[in-house]
Amino acid sequence: MKIAVVGAGRVGQAIAGSWARLGHSVTFGVRHPHDEKTHQLLASIGQGTRAAPVHDAAKAADVVVLAVPFGAAEEAIGACKGLKGKILVDCTNPLLPERAGLSIGHDRSAGEAIAGWAPQARVVKALNMTGAKNMANPKYPEAALSMLVCGDDADAKRVVAGLVGELGFDVVDAGPIEASRLLEPLAMLWINLAFKLGNGQDIGFRLLRR
Ligand SMILES: NC(=O)c1ccc[n+]([C@@H]2O[C@H](COP(=O)([O-])OP(=O)(O)OC[C@H]3O[C@@H](n4cnc5c(N)ncnc54)[C@H](OP(=O)(O)O)[C@@H]3O)[C@@H](O)[C@H]2O)c1
Repeated sequence: MKIAVVGAGRVGQAIAGSWARLGHSVTFGVRHPHDEKTHQLLASIGQGTRAAPVHDAAKAADVVVLAVPFGAAEEAIGACKGLKGKILVDCTNPLLPERAGLSIGHDRSAGEAIAGWAPQARVVKALNMTGAKNMANPKYPEAALSMLVCGDDADAKRVVAGLVGELGFDVVDAGPIEASRLLEPLAMLWINLAFKLGNGQDIGFRLLRR
């Protein structure tokens, strides 16, 4: 599958490497595709990953993954331009500075805002509710971590569930995009547990079933 990862930070790097190793064609959509930082990043990931301006990466992709700060999401979506019919994976959390909390929530969410900014895309919220280290490796001795995904387009959600499952997660359908109102506070809980309460980043959530 052709995947554009918009944003080459912690999340972008964690997922791009794994998908590229699995044989997907991964292109980072970045603001400076030819700078030294990007060259070093591509060299460290290898596996045929490329970098291109956001517009070109998104245009060529089947799936566009938005891995930028929420405050940059509207601008990054604008840079993508032709997202008509494309799957847009929203990894963002509307974090306040210093991880002090969420800037929106309860009756709104980043997921819904992004769906509003990209009305022609099929938006799926995924890969927001755990740390980037867990995205690179979701396997724990007991079991793989769960990753909740939500969205309004069943086919898009199925495709994203497949890609997230390939990363090694136990994928759980959390319902329509409105469920972002629940998934984003779940991310905040993980952040508090990991960073404020001293548990570190090697922790995660798993949905148990019987
Ligand atoms: N880190 C985590 O563990 C984690 C976990 C779950 C969800 N998230 C969420 O995932 C998103 C990304 O987090 P991160 O930790 O990967 O962030 P990060 O390490 O700060 O990286 C952000 C990336 O976004 C790029 N960017 C910023 N503004 C942009 C724009 N207008 N157009 C295109 N690219 C732009 C930056 O590029 P430049 O180098 O050009 O600035 C950078 O590559 C955030 O919304 C975060 O809340 C993070």
